[in-house]
Amino acid sequence: MSNIITIAGGGSGHTPGIVLTLLKNQEFFPIKEIRLYDIDQERNHDMEIIIDFLLKKNGSDISLLATLEPKEAFTGIDFVFSQIRVGGIEMRELDEKIPLNCGAVGQETCGLGGFSYGMRSMKGFLELVSDIQEYAPDAWILNYTNPETIIAESVRRKFPNAKIINACDMTISIEELIADSFGYDRKNWISEYYGLNHFGWYKNIYDRTVDKDIMPEIIEKIIQQGFKTDGLENNWVTTYKIMEYMVKKFPTHIPNNYLQYYLYPNIVLEHSDQNYTRANEIMDGRLKEIKETVYQMQNANDITEVQYESDSHGQYIVDMAVSIQNNLNKRFMLIVPNRGAIPNLREDAVVEVPCYVNSKGVEPISLREDIPDFHKGLMEAQVASEKLLVDAFFENSYQKAFESFTLNQTVPNADVARKVLDEFIEANGDYWVELN
Ligand code: G6P
Ligand code: MN
Repeated sequence: MSNIITIAGGGSGHTPGIVLTLLKNQEFFPIKEIRLYDIDQERNHDMEIIIDFLLKKNGSDISLLATLEPKEAFTGIDFVFSQIRVGGIEMRELDEKIPLNCGAVGQETCGLGGFSYGMRSMKGFLELVSDIQEYAPDAWILNYTNPETIIAESVRRKFPNAKIINACDMTISIEELIADSFGYDRKNWISEYYGLNHFGWYKNIYDRTVDKDIMPEIIEKIIQQGFKTDGLENNWVTTYKIMEYMVKKFPTHIPNNYLQYYLYPNIVLEHSDQNYTRANEIMDGRLKEIKETVYQMQNANDITEVQYESDSHGQYIVDMAVSIQNNLNKRFMLIVPNRGAIPNLREDAVVEVPCYVNSKGVEPISLREDIPDFHKGLMEAQVASEKLLVDAFFENSYQKAFESFTLNQTVPNADVARKVLDEFIEANGDYWVELN
């Protein structure tokens, strides 16, 4: 079977990494056509130029289509890889800056910035799922649109039967960081992890080569030696420094780095500049590079002379597609309804746990053990605040949005929650549903 895949949010700078990864996996996941779907014509067209170039350079005969029309994007396809960012980088900048200006953490997926993005994202993503259901009801949606727990919760409520798998690369990045820092090969590992998306902990890391849980020795190494972060962007170096600090203070588990925003907002704020956030770094870095690449590719006399390096961001999503198509039952950390996977957490939470992926979809693996009260307490508050946000969205409820913002653990008090909420309502305009 040769697949047609659509990349929703095709104009994203992550598209080339996905396509190059797909090209490497043709033996297990053959493709006859790639479609780039976006609502931003200019960015989608830029990516069309880059992808067309990469396909030619690799001697591929996969056909390419770039479109702004859902019907054209989804009719007759097998898979959608979704990486849409509703409101683009311009709105990300406001998600980060508005809370910062009120003294709270300003972040893309966590805290109130994540909630602002969540409100936009639910609206855009549910429209996307609706289009896919109309034109390609049998297609698999492999989703990594953020903020993922909120997206997963909203899709579950509106389209309970959608063929969707929600995945995040952060746990893979953490494992790669650990493996690179201390000389391990993560292919030998079977990890147990639990949490919500961007809000979880490793329970253990079993290493087949030594037949034991090596998490205690990894924790010791993180504390004694720290991570190797040479070559990483400043923002990630700071993130992993704070992660080391979290491991020192709570040395029983390895946390997801995103917990820094909830456990140490004070440290995060010390490192934040309200006039220049991560969104600005990306505008000045990644987005400028795309424009330069397009220029080079359009003006190249000799195609072999243009070098193009890309990240491996797409690897896990392609691995998932391969596991579905070939019924491999490979193990991935995925974002799924709890239903007992974490036994002592409310069963209607959306959690991130190890799962098997096969041609029928996702089979979550139960932890079979209760999680500690400390983690459970943090997660219960987070689940409730995210659920209130999704309620606010479906019920057009200002009060529930206010409660949701207040309950978020990055927020110092209810007055700050309300101020930020009011500013976000103003800034987001029609990107949000109306709240009364
Ligand atoms: C990780 C997370 C993603 C997040 C990204 C942000 O990959 O898992 O959910 O979007 O980091 O990276 P950026 O370079 O855009 O700040
Ligand atoms: Mn993520």
